[in-house]
This record gives sequence, C-alpha cells and structure tokens, in this order.
Amino acid sequence: EGPMTVGEFAKLLHREASEIIKKLLFLGVMATINQEIDTDAMELIASEYGVELVVKEPVDEEAIDMLVEADNPEDLVARPPVVTIMGHVDHGKTTLLDAIRKSRVVATEAGGITQHIGAYQVEVGGRKITFLDTPGHEAFTTMRARGAQVTDITILVVAADDGVMPQTVEAINHAKAANVPIIVAVNKIDKPEANPDRVKQELTQYGLVAEEWGGDTVFVNISALKKEGLDQLLEMVLLVADLQDLKANPKARPRGTVIEAKLDRGRGPVATVLVQNGTLRVGDIVVAGTTYGRVRAMTNDLGKRIKEAGPSTPVEIQGLGEVPSAGDLFVVYDDERAARQLVQKRTNREKAEQMQTTARVTLDDLYRQI
Ligand code: GTP
Ligand code: MG
Repeated sequence: EGPMTVGEFAKLLHREASEIIKKLLFLGVMATINQEIDTDAMELIASEYGVELVVKEPVDEEAIDMLVEADNPEDLVARPPVVTIMGHVDHGKTTLLDAIRKSRVVATEAGGITQHIGAYQVEVGGRKITFLDTPGHEAFTTMRARGAQVTDITILVVAADDGVMPQTVEAINHAKAANVPIIVAVNKIDKPEANPDRVKQELTQYGLVAEEWGGDTVFVNISALKKEGLDQLLEMVLLVADLQDLKANPKARPRGTVIEAKLDRGRGPVATVLVQNGTLRVGDIVVAGTTYGRVRAMTNDLGKRIKEAGPSTPVEIQGLGEVPSAGDLFVVYDDERAARQLVQKRTNREKAEQMQTTARVTLDDLYRQI
C-alpha cells in the first residue's frame, strides 16, 4: 500500500535492510534504507525469497478519483444523451450523421458553417442531443479498451435493401457488451427493393424485437438520403434517453474523454473532448492521458469560440502540450505543478511498460531460436 522505503520493505519480508540493499545493488540500484523502493525491484526481490508480492499500483485513475469529490445530489441536472451510430459498411452511417448535422445547421444558424470536430450537437424541441462523429466501432473499441464509456445510446443503421450483415451483428455485440441501448434505424426505405419487415424479422434472432412485435426495441424507418424519418428518429433518441435518467453535475470538477486529437500547424495540439461532468472553462489546467496544459481557447462544433462547456458538450480545446490519444480521460487540476507531476509519473510508467514489453519479446525470440 502506497510507496515503501527499503527499510519498510525489509521489515515486511522479515529481513535485514542491509540484505535488501545488497540485493538491490545486484539489480543495479543504489539505495539507502530510507529511500523509496520501486515496485519492479520489490517484485523481483520478493520472488527471490519465494514471496509472491501483490503490488497495488497507485493507478492514475486513483489520482483522478482523489480529485473528484462526490456529487451533491442537489447539484445533479439532466444532461443531453451522447449517441453513436453503428452499422454495416455502406448502410448509410455517414449519410445519416451528415443529414442530422445539416438539418440542425439550417434550422438554427442559417448559413452557419459546421466545423468537423469529431462530435456535434443538435437541438430537438429545445433539448440537445450529442452525436459522436467517430465511426461507432472505433468509439466503442478504442475507447472501451481505455475504460472510457462515452456512449449513452447507439443507433444501429441497417439498410432495408441489404438486411442484417456481419458488421451489424458485431455492432449489436459491442453495444450489448457495453450495456448501451440500441435504436434501430432501418435505412434506405426510399429504395424500391427495400424490405423493412425483413430487417425486423432478422434482428429478432439477436434479441432486438420491435415494440409492435411484443419486444422493447425501437425501430424507425428512415431514408438518410431523402432526409425522411429523421425527426422521428431524434424523438425516439430523446425518449430512450429519458428512460436512462441521464444526469451530471455542472459544478463538479470538469472531467471527460478525448474523442479525437491532432497536431494543427498553426494552433498546435488540438483535441476534441467530451465534457462528461462539470463545466470546462478557458484557463483551466487540464491533464489528458500523458499530457497537460492550460486551455487557451475552446471552439464548439459550429466553429464558434466559447468560454465554457457543460456536461455532454463536445468542444475542441487548444493549449495541451502534446497530442493526447482518443479515449484518454481528462480531468481539470487546480495546480499546474500537480498536473505536471501526474503526467511525469504516467509517462514514466508508460516507458517502463514499453521497456518490459520489448524485453519480453526479446526473450520470447530467444526461446524460439533455442
Ligand atoms: P462506410 O463508412 O463505408 O461503412 O459506409 P456508411 O455506412 O457510412 O454509408 P454511406 O453513408 O457512405 O452510404 C453508402 C451509400 O449508400 C452512399 O452511396 C449513399 O448515398 C447511399 N445511401 C445512404 N443512405 C441512403 C438512403 O437512405 N437511400 C438511398 N437510396 N441511398 C442511401
Ligand atoms: Mg461512413
């Protein structure tokens, strides 16, 4: 538990500190009794004594948790649902995302230019919905691999002229594994060969049974190309969101997930982040993965400079020292020094892990040759 000195470690093993110091020397580590011992060395030495050591690494998520105070229930307010779109190749995901995005721009800011920031928001009857622009598969796999859960609802696009295909099934499995409710958008109903009932029929095999067939899955027939059924689809998104009772605390310490990031020639590292709790503001010190920085500027999906962003809002931020990875969690720190230290620690750990992997690979190669 926590960092340990050489002396404390020796006591734990019922050995003399001098003996441990000698062992450390063999490992190439010069240490005194009051020095902190690193966990790798601890494990190695413990194993020499036939002791199996369970090292509780102070994972960085703990560092975040220490900063994240429990939300006061009174501070919780409804937040917009975050939606991803998934489906088989060519079934119309991009067309649907674009159609929804355009419907909003035309409706709210005539002539407004949507900027591609990897996510956007639409307003339906005064309520907002956040769409992640990344292909659903990526959003699920890379982000979930990092432990980030960003999606509240997934829209499964199935072309009515093609039916259920391998990636349709894959998408269903992803959503189910993440416990994310599915709304089925049966697309391309404008096509003469469209057969929406066949799609409904096929999906029953995967546990997606339409409400009118006695199940609880919402199906909406749409044509992304002709922009038909989109309003109904968005209404259904809000309906399903209501069942989830999605809430966040705008007063909490801001935290969320990096959706995508890149190096911009003029602006330096820019990252689209989804604020999941709290309110992110220009000037905040943000730690994201193995980088940190002070938010210099924030831009929303309409390309507009904004000063703050509340829960479920996607924003592009400038000011990070380096480009973070999609799926990295971010959190706001009060203190720049603490932010720098955490980033340093994570960077070191990442390096150590890389070195270990390399070492292991080399050993494996060696064995293979023998
Ligand atoms: P990938 O990104 O390659 O997986 O494909 P996608 O799912 O994003 O499909 P995309 O939106 O690129 O659409 C594929 C093709 O289907 C394009 O030629 C679209 O114009 C067409 N398409 C999409 N929606 C509709 C629709 O509602 N009706 C008709 N007739 N065609 C559509
Ligand atoms: Mg596409």
